[in-house]
Amino acid sequence: MTHPDRLRIVAVSGSLHRPSSTTALVAALAEAVARREAAEIAVIELAEVGPSLAGALDRAELPERAERAIRAIESADLLIAGSPVYRASFTGLFKHLFDFVDQRALTDVPVLLAATGGSHRHALTIEHQLRPLFAFFQALTLPVGVYAASEDFAHGRVRCPAVLDRIEAAADRALPYLGRVPAPVRPAVF
Ligand SMILES: Cc1cc2nc3c(=O)[nH]c(=O)nc-3n(C[C@H](O)[C@H](O)[C@H](O)COP(=O)(O)O)c2cc1C
Repeated sequence: MTHPDRLRIVAVSGSLHRPSSTTALVAALAEAVARREAAEIAVIELAEVGPSLAGALDRAELPERAERAIRAIESADLLIAGSPVYRASFTGLFKHLFDFVDQRALTDVPVLLAATGGSHRHALTIEHQLRPLFAFFQALTLPVGVYAASEDFAHGRVRCPAVLDRIEAAADRALPYLGRVPAPVRPAVF
């Protein structure tokens, strides 16, 4: 049951695997925000939704599970969008998922960006790949994104103190953007 007074946090993990360091990272971010603000958390894993999504070329073709995931994204108060870096970008299925999201649904929605990679060399994937995608949606991409490399995880959880600190900083810096009154959207700006 949803509580209208609680923040709806939807965390999307673009990983195709389970267990997943990306899922661990987006879940840790959601929990960090929920420690500061009463919230409901929904975690959407591409590893779960992806196979039913992959064959669909049109939203009307989507199976119920994928359609439910997209509707959750479209009604989020805070979206946490994370993907493993594949070939210097987000995964193809992560993009395929967001290709189905209504182009007006994320206007002014705060979006906390996250990515994981095999090393720290692709940390700017957040700035060069994820941020422009959500700029297209006219979403409010939050100032602090969080990147973690494989070495920053142990036993399926974030272990690196610097990354844990950055998760807390990202949650702190998200607070002023939550619970904003939506502004009217002029169709002409799309
Ligand atoms: C097809 C493929 C491409 C990848 N490309 C990159 C890359 O360009 N840069 C990088 O740092 N890591 C790359 N990786 C490593 C993953 O980003 C890394 O292992 C990630 O943390 C896995 O996340 P997950 O556990 O959530 O699936 C790649 C992995 C795969 C399978």
